[in-house]
Amino acid sequence: MTTIQTLTLTRPDDFHLHLRDGAALRDALPWTARQFARAIVMPNLKPPVVRLQQALEYRGRILAALPDGSEFTPLMTLYLTDDTTPAMVEEARRSGVVHAFKLYPAGATTNSDSGVTELKRIYPALEAMQRVRMPLLIHGEVTDPEIDVFDREVVFIERHLIALRRAFPELKIVLEHITTAQAAQFVGEAHERDAHGVPRLAATITAHHLLHNRNAMFKGGMRPHYYCLPVLKRETHRQALLDAATSGDDRFFLGTDSAPHARHAKEAACGCAGCFTAANALELYCAAFEQRDALHRLDDFASRFGAAFYGLPRNSGDVTLKRTPWNVPEHLPYADTDIVPLHAGEAMEWQVQIDA
Ligand code: DOR
Ligand code: ZN
Repeated sequence: MTTIQTLTLTRPDDFHLHLRDGAALRDALPWTARQFARAIVMPNLKPPVVRLQQALEYRGRILAALPDGSEFTPLMTLYLTDDTTPAMVEEARRSGVVHAFKLYPAGATTNSDSGVTELKRIYPALEAMQRVRMPLLIHGEVTDPEIDVFDREVVFIERHLIALRRAFPELKIVLEHITTAQAAQFVGEAHERDAHGVPRLAATITAHHLLHNRNAMFKGGMRPHYYCLPVLKRETHRQALLDAATSGDDRFFLGTDSAPHARHAKEAACGCAGCFTAANALELYCAAFEQRDALHRLDDFASRFGAAFYGLPRNSGDVTLKRTPWNVPEHLPYADTDIVPLHAGEAMEWQVQIDA
């Protein structure tokens, strides 16, 4: 068997990304812009991006922070609250700038305090989203403190997602950053498609959930850089995610959920959730796909299925990765301090080739 040395992909998109704002945006954005053509930008800023005007202003700040000559396009999202109205959904759709609304159950994760307290409260907004074909992106975890943190995704599906899909059968939904075999199975069994053949239910999968199980958080001590939400799960779940991502099923596509937090905010008594993967995203996905000898499936997962789901044209141009051993830096500059990328200090096999 000959080992592949070079892999060329259509320029990919990141369908779930945290770019932050201000100095953090300045330092996080160039990493994504060098690997990806477009990204779905999460709205969980402080304060959250709730209104169209806020999204337009945030988009302006992202474009202004881009390196000279970059052609990166941010795809904006709005943050659902109990007060999101059908008129706000319609206005967002007409703008052409907002590509989805994000549902954070209140308290589920970073900056989710203004999230939705009860799904019934946003039914009018969801009805409007279904009508104008605006996708709903879901952080699928219950916030009930009685529920074990490792079970929160599965319980969300049982308690909320099944009913939500029944109530809004034509709503386009992305279950974001899935972490369990049950989530992969739930999405895999949803066969409904719209008139264009686009799946009604899809899921993004991160590189860290493909590469690591929950042991990574505790190897030889507490490892805060492996702590994210939804939290890493058992190996059986990781295997199910690898199956889904490498299956060639168009309901599963790339979303890094790269979620930068400064090193001091992670290495703390109450460390923030999030893995910073933007600096080596494609390399990490290559490592994951190679575990299944499925590098030939990466182009569809990274560059085709997500764009088709969102009704976006496929990107022109490409990006090449080479099998070139290199070491991930121990830390990178971030918001006037530093940040620890996933796999810091470790060797990687693949490297994106960027023209100087
Ligand atoms: O680990 C995470 N970090 N999960 C999320 O849902 C939010 C994200 C963040 O914004 O830091
Ligand atoms: Zn996220």
